Amino acid sequence: MDKLLIKGQNQLSGSVDISGSKNAALPILAACLLADSTVKVSNIPHLRDVTTTIRLLAAMGAEVLIDEQRTVEINSSTLKSCEAPYELVKTMRASILVLGPLLAKYGEAKVSLPGGCAIGSRPVNIHIHGMEKMGAKILVEDGYIHATVDGRLKGAQIDMEPVTVTGTENLLMAAVLAEGTTVLRNAAREPEVTDLAQFLVKMGAKITGIGTDVLTIQGVKSLKGVSYDVIPDRIEAGTYLAAAAVTQSKVTVKNVTPEHLFAVLEKFKEAGAEVTTTANSITLDMIGRTLKPVNIKTEPFPDFPTDMQAQFVVMNAIAEGDSIVEETIFENRFMHVSELTRMGASIQVHGNIAHITGVESLTGAEVMATDLRASACLILAALVAKGQTVVDRVYHLDRGYEIVEEKFHKLGADIIRLSE
Ligand code: EPU
Repeated sequence: MDKLLIKGQNQLSGSVDISGSKNAALPILAACLLADSTVKVSNIPHLRDVTTTIRLLAAMGAEVLIDEQRTVEINSSTLKSCEAPYELVKTMRASILVLGPLLAKYGEAKVSLPGGCAIGSRPVNIHIHGMEKMGAKILVEDGYIHATVDGRLKGAQIDMEPVTVTGTENLLMAAVLAEGTTVLRNAAREPEVTDLAQFLVKMGAKITGIGTDVLTIQGVKSLKGVSYDVIPDRIEAGTYLAAAAVTQSKVTVKNVTPEHLFAVLEKFKEAGAEVTTTANSITLDMIGRTLKPVNIKTEPFPDFPTDMQAQFVVMNAIAEGDSIVEETIFENRFMHVSELTRMGASIQVHGNIAHITGVESLTGAEVMATDLRASACLILAALVAKGQTVVDRVYHLDRGYEIVEEKFHKLGADIIRLSE
Protein backbone atom coordinates (compact mmCIF):
# COMPACT_ATOMS: atom_id res chain seq x y z
CA MET A 1 0.00 0.00 0.00
CA ASP A 2 1.37 3.43 -0.97
CA LYS A 3 2.22 5.99 1.70
CA LEU A 4 3.09 9.68 1.52
CA LEU A 5 6.09 11.01 3.38
CA ILE A 6 5.80 14.73 4.11
CA LYS A 7 8.27 17.04 5.84
CA GLY A 8 6.34 20.01 7.15
CA GLN A 9 6.72 23.77 7.45
CA ASN A 10 7.75 24.61 3.88
CA GLN A 11 6.09 27.72 2.56
CA LEU A 12 4.20 27.10 -0.70
CA SER A 13 4.17 29.38 -3.71
CA GLY A 14 3.10 29.50 -7.34
CA SER A 15 0.12 28.08 -9.13
CA VAL A 16 -1.56 24.76 -9.66
CA ASP A 17 -3.77 23.60 -12.55
CA ILE A 18 -7.03 22.12 -11.33
CA SER A 19 -8.28 18.91 -12.94
CA GLY A 20 -11.77 18.08 -14.17
CA SER A 21 -14.34 17.38 -11.47
CA LYS A 22 -14.56 13.78 -10.27
CA ASN A 23 -18.14 14.15 -9.08
CA ALA A 24 -19.23 15.68 -12.41
CA ALA A 25 -17.28 13.18 -14.54
CA LEU A 26 -18.84 10.12 -12.87
CA PRO A 27 -22.53 10.87 -13.68
CA ILE A 28 -21.60 12.21 -17.13
CA LEU A 29 -19.80 8.96 -17.98
CA ALA A 30 -22.85 7.00 -16.75
CA ALA A 31 -25.10 9.24 -18.87
CA CYS A 32 -23.17 8.16 -21.99
CA LEU A 33 -25.27 4.96 -21.71
CA LEU A 34 -28.28 7.05 -22.79
CA ALA A 35 -26.90 8.12 -26.18
CA ASP A 36 -27.56 6.39 -29.50
CA SER A 37 -24.13 7.28 -30.88
CA THR A 38 -20.57 8.00 -29.72
CA VAL A 39 -20.08 10.58 -26.96
CA LYS A 40 -16.78 12.41 -26.48
CA VAL A 41 -16.10 13.70 -22.95
CA SER A 42 -13.07 15.91 -22.24
CA ASN A 43 -11.36 17.25 -19.09
CA ILE A 44 -11.80 13.85 -17.48
CA PRO A 45 -9.51 13.54 -14.43
CA HIS A 46 -7.20 10.55 -14.27
CA LEU A 47 -8.50 9.05 -11.01
CA ARG A 48 -9.27 5.63 -9.63
CA ASP A 49 -13.06 6.23 -9.50
CA VAL A 50 -13.07 7.36 -13.12
CA THR A 51 -11.13 4.24 -14.17
CA THR A 52 -13.63 2.10 -12.24
CA THR A 53 -16.56 3.74 -14.06
CA ILE A 54 -14.87 3.22 -17.44
CA ARG A 55 -14.19 -0.43 -16.53
CA LEU A 56 -17.83 -0.82 -15.57
CA LEU A 57 -19.06 0.59 -18.90
CA ALA A 58 -16.59 -1.59 -20.81
CA ALA A 59 -17.60 -4.69 -18.81
CA MET A 60 -21.21 -4.08 -19.89
CA GLY A 61 -20.08 -4.03 -23.54
CA ALA A 62 -19.61 -0.32 -24.30
CA GLU A 63 -16.71 0.57 -26.61
CA VAL A 64 -14.37 2.95 -24.80
CA LEU A 65 -11.43 4.87 -26.26
CA ILE A 66 -9.19 6.99 -24.04
CA ASP A 67 -6.64 9.43 -25.45
CA GLU A 68 -3.65 11.13 -23.83
CA GLN A 69 -5.48 14.46 -23.57
CA ARG A 70 -7.94 13.23 -20.91
CA THR A 71 -10.67 12.69 -23.48
CA VAL A 72 -12.84 9.59 -23.42
CA GLU A 73 -15.00 8.39 -26.32
CA ILE A 74 -17.85 6.07 -25.40
CA ASN A 75 -20.09 4.15 -27.77
CA SER A 76 -22.70 2.26 -25.79
CA SER A 77 -24.71 1.03 -28.79
CA THR A 78 -22.71 -2.21 -28.43
CA LEU A 79 -23.99 -2.88 -24.88
CA LYS A 80 -24.46 -6.59 -24.07
CA SER A 81 -25.25 -6.60 -20.36
CA CYS A 82 -27.17 -4.37 -17.95
CA GLU A 83 -25.41 -5.56 -14.82
CA ALA A 84 -23.11 -3.64 -12.45
CA PRO A 85 -21.44 -6.43 -10.47
CA TYR A 86 -20.53 -6.35 -6.78
CA GLU A 87 -16.76 -6.52 -7.53
CA LEU A 88 -16.91 -3.04 -9.07
CA VAL A 89 -19.67 -1.45 -6.98
CA LYS A 90 -17.94 -2.38 -3.72
CA THR A 91 -14.95 -0.26 -4.73
CA MET A 92 -17.07 2.73 -5.75
CA ARG A 93 -20.55 3.66 -4.49
CA ALA A 94 -21.10 5.99 -7.46
CA SER A 95 -21.61 2.85 -9.63
CA ILE A 96 -25.27 3.24 -8.57
CA LEU A 97 -25.38 6.01 -11.20
CA VAL A 98 -25.81 3.46 -14.00
CA LEU A 99 -29.20 2.41 -12.58
CA GLY A 100 -31.19 5.34 -14.04
CA PRO A 101 -29.63 5.31 -17.54
CA LEU A 102 -29.86 1.49 -17.92
CA LEU A 103 -33.49 1.41 -16.87
CA ALA A 104 -34.44 4.37 -19.07
CA LYS A 105 -32.66 3.12 -22.19
CA TYR A 106 -32.81 -0.68 -21.91
CA GLY A 107 -35.78 -1.24 -19.57
CA GLU A 108 -33.71 -3.29 -17.14
CA ALA A 109 -30.82 -3.01 -14.72
CA LYS A 110 -29.14 -5.22 -12.17
CA VAL A 111 -26.93 -3.17 -9.88
CA SER A 112 -25.24 -4.36 -6.72
CA LEU A 113 -26.63 -2.46 -3.73
CA PRO A 114 -23.84 -0.23 -2.38
CA GLY A 115 -22.95 -1.03 1.23
CA GLY A 116 -22.26 1.45 4.01
CA CYS A 117 -19.12 3.52 3.84
CA ALA A 118 -16.60 5.10 6.19
CA ILE A 119 -18.50 8.40 6.37
CA GLY A 120 -22.02 7.05 6.97
CA SER A 121 -24.69 4.49 6.07
CA ARG A 122 -25.50 6.29 2.80
CA PRO A 123 -28.77 4.59 1.74
CA VAL A 124 -30.14 4.79 -1.84
CA ASN A 125 -33.85 4.60 -0.94
CA ILE A 126 -34.61 7.91 -2.71
CA HIS A 127 -33.11 6.63 -5.99
CA ILE A 128 -35.21 3.46 -5.73
CA HIS A 129 -38.51 5.10 -4.69
CA GLY A 130 -38.18 7.70 -7.45
CA MET A 131 -37.75 5.03 -10.11
CA GLU A 132 -40.71 3.07 -8.68
CA LYS A 133 -42.81 6.23 -9.01
CA MET A 134 -41.78 6.29 -12.68
CA GLY A 135 -43.23 2.81 -13.15
CA ALA A 136 -40.19 0.59 -12.50
CA LYS A 137 -40.58 -2.72 -10.70
CA ILE A 138 -37.74 -3.02 -8.22
CA LEU A 139 -36.71 -6.03 -6.21
CA VAL A 140 -33.80 -5.98 -3.80
CA GLU A 141 -32.52 -9.54 -3.54
CA ASP A 142 -29.16 -11.22 -2.87
CA GLY A 143 -27.49 -7.84 -2.47
CA TYR A 144 -28.64 -6.64 -5.89
CA ILE A 145 -31.21 -4.09 -7.08
CA HIS A 146 -33.15 -5.79 -9.90
CA ALA A 147 -35.08 -3.13 -11.83
CA THR A 148 -37.33 -3.60 -14.84
CA VAL A 149 -39.98 -1.60 -16.65
CA ASP A 150 -42.57 -2.56 -19.27
CA GLY A 151 -41.99 -0.20 -22.18
CA ARG A 152 -40.74 3.26 -21.22
CA LEU A 153 -40.55 4.80 -17.75
CA LYS A 154 -43.43 7.25 -17.10
CA GLY A 155 -43.01 10.86 -16.01
CA ALA A 156 -43.81 11.44 -12.31
CA GLN A 157 -43.82 14.05 -9.55
CA ILE A 158 -40.97 13.21 -7.17
CA ASP A 159 -40.15 14.96 -3.89
CA MET A 160 -36.73 14.16 -2.51
CA GLU A 161 -35.94 14.45 1.20
CA PRO A 162 -33.16 14.93 2.21
CA VAL A 163 -31.46 16.66 -0.71
CA THR A 164 -29.35 14.05 -2.51
CA VAL A 165 -26.72 14.71 -5.17
CA THR A 166 -26.45 11.30 -6.86
CA GLY A 167 -30.17 10.66 -6.19
CA THR A 168 -31.06 13.79 -8.20
CA GLU A 169 -28.59 12.76 -10.93
CA ASN A 170 -29.92 9.20 -11.17
CA LEU A 171 -33.55 10.32 -11.39
CA LEU A 172 -32.66 13.05 -13.89
CA MET A 173 -30.98 10.47 -16.15
CA ALA A 174 -34.00 8.17 -15.79
CA ALA A 175 -36.46 10.97 -16.60
CA VAL A 176 -34.85 12.27 -19.81
CA LEU A 177 -36.02 9.20 -21.80
CA ALA A 178 -39.31 8.68 -19.89
CA GLU A 179 -42.73 9.15 -21.45
CA GLY A 180 -44.23 12.49 -20.33
CA THR A 181 -43.10 15.06 -17.80
CA THR A 182 -41.18 14.47 -14.57
CA VAL A 183 -40.82 17.08 -11.84
CA LEU A 184 -37.98 16.61 -9.35
CA ARG A 185 -38.57 18.72 -6.23
CA ASN A 186 -35.98 19.56 -3.57
CA ALA A 187 -33.38 18.68 -6.21
CA ALA A 188 -29.70 19.10 -5.41
CA ARG A 189 -28.24 22.30 -6.92
CA GLU A 190 -24.58 21.31 -6.78
CA PRO A 191 -22.55 22.47 -9.83
CA GLU A 192 -21.97 18.78 -10.69
CA VAL A 193 -25.76 18.24 -11.02
CA THR A 194 -26.00 21.34 -13.22
CA ASP A 195 -23.10 20.08 -15.36
CA LEU A 196 -24.86 16.75 -15.90
CA ALA A 197 -28.11 18.56 -16.79
CA GLN A 198 -26.29 20.74 -19.33
CA PHE A 199 -24.62 17.68 -20.84
CA LEU A 200 -28.03 15.96 -21.18
CA VAL A 201 -29.52 19.08 -22.80
CA LYS A 202 -26.66 19.08 -25.32
CA MET A 203 -27.56 15.45 -26.11
CA GLY A 204 -31.15 16.55 -26.82
CA ALA A 205 -32.88 16.30 -23.42
CA LYS A 206 -35.57 18.82 -22.45
CA ILE A 207 -34.88 20.11 -18.93
CA THR A 208 -35.95 23.39 -17.32
CA GLY A 209 -35.08 24.81 -13.90
CA ILE A 210 -31.39 23.86 -14.22
CA GLY A 211 -29.48 25.23 -11.22
CA THR A 212 -32.67 25.49 -9.10
CA ASP A 213 -34.24 22.99 -6.70
CA VAL A 214 -37.09 22.14 -9.09
CA LEU A 215 -36.08 20.32 -12.26
CA THR A 216 -38.78 19.75 -14.89
CA ILE A 217 -37.98 17.14 -17.50
CA GLN A 218 -40.02 16.49 -20.60
CA GLY A 219 -39.01 13.03 -21.77
CA VAL A 220 -37.70 12.56 -25.32
CA LYS A 221 -37.46 9.34 -27.38
CA SER A 222 -33.72 9.38 -27.98
CA LEU A 223 -30.51 11.23 -27.23
CA LYS A 224 -27.56 11.77 -29.56
CA GLY A 225 -23.80 11.61 -29.07
CA VAL A 226 -22.04 14.96 -28.47
CA SER A 227 -18.70 16.40 -27.33
CA TYR A 228 -18.58 17.87 -23.83
CA ASP A 229 -16.05 19.36 -21.37
CA VAL A 230 -16.43 18.48 -17.68
CA ILE A 231 -16.31 21.41 -15.19
CA PRO A 232 -13.24 21.92 -12.96
CA ASP A 233 -13.06 20.22 -9.57
CA ARG A 234 -14.12 22.82 -6.98
CA ILE A 235 -13.12 20.60 -4.05
CA GLU A 236 -9.62 19.96 -5.42
CA ALA A 237 -9.27 23.74 -5.88
CA GLY A 238 -10.54 24.43 -2.34
CA THR A 239 -8.08 21.89 -0.93
CA TYR A 240 -5.03 23.63 -2.50
CA LEU A 241 -6.31 26.99 -1.25
CA ALA A 242 -6.64 25.52 2.24
CA ALA A 243 -3.03 24.29 1.92
CA ALA A 244 -1.98 27.89 1.24
CA ALA A 245 -3.99 29.07 4.25
CA VAL A 246 -2.43 26.62 6.73
CA THR A 247 1.14 27.21 5.52
CA GLN A 248 0.78 31.02 5.45
CA SER A 249 1.51 31.02 1.73
CA LYS A 250 0.25 32.56 -1.49
CA VAL A 251 -1.09 30.11 -4.08
CA THR A 252 -3.14 30.49 -7.25
CA VAL A 253 -5.47 27.77 -8.50
CA LYS A 254 -6.01 27.90 -12.27
CA ASN A 255 -8.76 26.56 -14.57
CA VAL A 256 -11.47 26.94 -11.92
CA THR A 257 -14.94 28.47 -11.72
CA PRO A 258 -14.81 30.81 -8.67
CA GLU A 259 -18.65 30.99 -8.33
CA HIS A 260 -18.69 27.26 -7.52
CA LEU A 261 -16.66 28.05 -4.39
CA PHE A 262 -18.52 31.16 -3.22
CA ALA A 263 -19.39 29.93 0.30
CA VAL A 264 -15.89 28.49 0.77
CA LEU A 265 -14.14 31.69 -0.35
CA GLU A 266 -16.25 33.70 2.12
CA LYS A 267 -15.01 31.43 4.92
CA PHE A 268 -11.38 31.79 3.77
CA LYS A 269 -11.82 35.58 4.00
CA GLU A 270 -13.39 35.26 7.46
CA ALA A 271 -10.32 33.19 8.43
CA GLY A 272 -8.12 36.16 7.55
CA ALA A 273 -6.99 35.30 4.02
CA GLU A 274 -6.87 37.75 1.14
CA VAL A 275 -8.75 36.15 -1.74
CA THR A 276 -8.74 37.51 -5.29
CA THR A 277 -10.43 36.00 -8.30
CA THR A 278 -10.39 36.31 -12.09
CA ALA A 279 -12.88 34.61 -14.43
CA ASN A 280 -11.02 31.29 -14.10
CA SER A 281 -8.51 31.55 -11.25
CA ILE A 282 -8.42 32.15 -7.51
CA THR A 283 -5.45 33.42 -5.49
CA LEU A 284 -5.29 33.02 -1.73
CA ASP A 285 -2.68 35.09 0.10
CA MET A 286 -1.98 34.28 3.74
CA ILE A 287 1.58 35.61 3.89
CA GLY A 288 2.21 37.45 7.16
CA ARG A 289 -1.39 36.91 8.28
CA THR A 290 -2.75 35.03 11.29
CA LEU A 291 -5.43 32.37 10.89
CA LYS A 292 -8.66 33.22 12.69
CA PRO A 293 -11.05 30.47 13.79
CA VAL A 294 -14.26 30.17 11.72
CA ASN A 295 -17.47 28.37 12.61
CA ILE A 296 -18.65 26.02 9.86
CA LYS A 297 -21.95 24.25 9.23
CA THR A 298 -22.06 21.95 6.22
CA GLU A 299 -25.15 22.24 4.01
CA PRO A 300 -26.16 21.39 0.43
CA PHE A 301 -25.01 23.82 -2.30
CA PRO A 302 -24.89 26.82 -2.43
CA ASP A 303 -23.88 26.66 1.25
CA PHE A 304 -20.66 25.27 2.69
CA PRO A 305 -19.85 21.78 1.26
CA THR A 306 -19.25 18.71 3.42
CA ASP A 307 -16.35 17.84 1.09
CA MET A 308 -14.42 20.89 2.44
CA GLN A 309 -15.21 20.28 6.12
CA ALA A 310 -12.09 18.24 6.98
CA GLN A 311 -9.77 20.83 5.38
CA PHE A 312 -11.32 23.62 7.49
CA VAL A 313 -10.96 21.50 10.63
CA VAL A 314 -7.16 21.62 10.06
CA MET A 315 -7.28 25.39 9.57
CA ASN A 316 -9.23 25.80 12.82
CA ALA A 317 -6.90 23.39 14.61
CA ILE A 318 -4.03 25.89 14.24
CA ALA A 319 -6.07 29.12 14.33
CA GLU A 320 -5.90 31.54 17.25
CA GLY A 321 -9.00 30.71 19.32
CA ASP A 322 -12.03 28.39 19.50
CA SER A 323 -14.42 27.26 16.78
CA ILE A 324 -17.32 24.93 16.15
CA VAL A 325 -17.70 22.75 13.06
CA GLU A 326 -21.09 21.12 12.51
CA GLU A 327 -21.49 18.29 9.98
CA THR A 328 -25.12 17.97 8.84
CA ILE A 329 -24.79 15.82 5.69
CA PHE A 330 -23.08 12.60 6.84
CA GLU A 331 -23.36 11.06 10.31
CA ASN A 332 -19.77 9.86 10.65
CA ARG A 333 -17.54 12.36 8.92
CA PHE A 334 -15.12 13.26 11.72
CA MET A 335 -12.76 10.31 11.46
CA HIS A 336 -9.87 12.62 10.64
CA VAL A 337 -10.20 14.16 14.11
CA SER A 338 -8.60 11.29 16.01
CA GLU A 339 -5.64 11.32 13.61
CA LEU A 340 -5.28 15.11 13.96
CA THR A 341 -5.36 14.70 17.74
CA ARG A 342 -2.35 12.38 17.41
CA MET A 343 -0.59 15.29 15.69
CA GLY A 344 -1.32 17.58 18.65
CA ALA A 345 -4.68 19.13 17.71
CA SER A 346 -7.19 19.90 20.46
CA ILE A 347 -10.59 18.79 19.20
CA GLN A 348 -13.60 17.25 20.98
CA VAL A 349 -16.38 15.68 18.97
CA HIS A 350 -19.91 15.48 20.43
CA GLY A 351 -22.30 13.86 17.97
CA ASN A 352 -22.11 15.83 14.75
CA ILE A 353 -20.29 18.82 16.26
CA ALA A 354 -16.55 19.31 16.66
CA HIS A 355 -15.32 21.83 19.25
CA ILE A 356 -11.86 23.00 18.27
CA THR A 357 -9.33 24.97 20.28
CA GLY A 358 -6.48 26.21 18.13
CA VAL A 359 -2.97 25.12 19.11
CA GLU A 360 0.30 26.86 18.27
CA SER A 361 1.66 24.00 16.20
CA LEU A 362 1.08 20.42 15.10
CA THR A 363 3.77 17.75 15.12
CA GLY A 364 4.46 15.07 12.52
CA ALA A 365 3.27 11.51 13.19
CA GLU A 366 2.33 8.29 11.42
CA VAL A 367 -1.33 8.68 10.50
CA MET A 368 -3.93 6.69 8.62
CA ALA A 369 -6.25 8.00 5.92
CA THR A 370 -9.83 6.76 6.33
CA ASP A 371 -11.68 8.38 3.43
CA LEU A 372 -10.99 10.74 0.57
CA ARG A 373 -11.37 14.14 2.25
CA ALA A 374 -9.94 12.89 5.55
CA SER A 375 -6.78 12.00 3.59
CA ALA A 376 -6.62 15.50 2.12
CA CYS A 377 -6.92 16.98 5.59
CA LEU A 378 -4.03 14.86 6.88
CA ILE A 379 -1.82 16.14 4.06
CA LEU A 380 -2.65 19.72 5.00
CA ALA A 381 -1.86 18.98 8.64
CA ALA A 382 1.44 17.36 7.61
CA LEU A 383 2.41 20.37 5.46
CA VAL A 384 2.23 22.68 8.47
CA ALA A 385 3.42 20.24 11.17
CA LYS A 386 6.86 20.26 12.76
CA GLY A 387 8.88 17.26 11.58
CA GLN A 388 7.89 14.35 9.41
CA THR A 389 4.48 12.76 8.77
CA VAL A 390 3.73 9.47 7.06
CA VAL A 391 0.19 9.23 5.69
CA ASP A 392 -0.82 5.60 5.20
CA ARG A 393 -3.63 4.22 2.99
CA VAL A 394 -3.14 6.85 0.31
CA TYR A 395 -5.39 4.87 -2.05
CA HIS A 396 -8.30 6.86 -0.59
CA LEU A 397 -6.63 10.02 -1.83
CA ASP A 398 -6.01 8.60 -5.29
CA ARG A 399 -9.78 8.28 -5.72
CA GLY A 400 -10.17 12.04 -5.86
CA TYR A 401 -6.89 13.95 -6.28
CA GLU A 402 -4.96 13.67 -9.53
CA ILE A 403 -1.11 13.44 -9.21
CA VAL A 404 -1.40 14.96 -5.77
CA GLU A 405 2.25 14.69 -4.76
CA GLU A 406 3.40 16.18 -8.10
CA LYS A 407 1.07 19.14 -7.70
CA PHE A 408 2.14 19.81 -4.10
CA HIS A 409 5.80 19.28 -5.01
CA LYS A 410 5.50 21.93 -7.73
CA LEU A 411 4.18 24.35 -5.10
CA GLY A 412 7.29 23.72 -2.98
CA ALA A 413 6.11 21.03 -0.56
CA ASP A 414 8.53 18.35 0.61
CA ILE A 415 6.41 15.32 -0.26
CA ILE A 416 7.24 11.91 -1.71
CA ARG A 417 5.27 8.74 -2.37
CA LEU A 418 6.58 5.51 -0.91
CA SER A 419 5.31 2.62 -3.04
CA GLU A 420 5.28 -0.92 -1.71
N1 EPU B 1 -29.54 10.01 1.49
C1 EPU B 1 -30.63 9.27 1.86
N2 EPU B 1 -31.24 8.47 0.92
C2 EPU B 1 -30.81 8.42 -0.38
C3 EPU B 1 -29.70 9.20 -0.75
C4 EPU B 1 -29.08 10.00 0.20
O1 EPU B 1 -31.05 9.29 3.02
O2 EPU B 1 -31.40 7.68 -1.18
C5 EPU B 1 -28.85 10.86 2.48
C6 EPU B 1 -27.40 10.43 2.73
O3 EPU B 1 -27.31 9.38 3.65
C7 EPU B 1 -26.78 11.71 3.24
C8 EPU B 1 -27.54 12.80 2.46
O4 EPU B 1 -28.71 12.16 1.96
O5 EPU B 1 -27.03 11.87 4.60
C9 EPU B 1 -26.80 13.40 1.29
O6 EPU B 1 -26.19 12.38 0.52
P1 EPU B 1 -26.03 12.48 -1.06
O7 EPU B 1 -26.92 11.47 -1.68
O8 EPU B 1 -26.20 13.91 -1.50
O9 EPU B 1 -24.52 12.04 -1.26
P2 EPU B 1 -23.98 11.25 -2.51
O10 EPU B 1 -24.76 11.65 -3.70
O11 EPU B 1 -23.85 9.83 -2.17
C10 EPU B 1 -22.28 13.06 -3.36
C11 EPU B 1 -20.81 13.09 -3.60
C12 EPU B 1 -20.08 13.12 -2.27
C13 EPU B 1 -20.54 14.37 -1.50
C14 EPU B 1 -22.07 14.34 -1.34
C15 EPU B 1 -22.63 15.59 -0.67
C16 EPU B 1 -20.58 11.94 -5.71
C17 EPU B 1 -20.11 10.75 -6.45
N3 EPU B 1 -20.41 11.93 -4.39
O12 EPU B 1 -22.52 11.85 -2.63
O13 EPU B 1 -18.71 13.22 -2.54
O14 EPU B 1 -19.94 14.40 -0.23
O15 EPU B 1 -22.69 14.20 -2.64
O16 EPU B 1 -22.31 16.71 -1.39
O17 EPU B 1 -21.06 12.89 -6.31
C18 EPU B 1 -16.42 13.01 -2.07
O18 EPU B 1 -16.18 13.43 -3.21
O19 EPU B 1 -15.52 12.90 -1.19
C19 EPU B 1 -17.78 12.65 -1.71
C20 EPU B 1 -18.07 11.87 -0.66
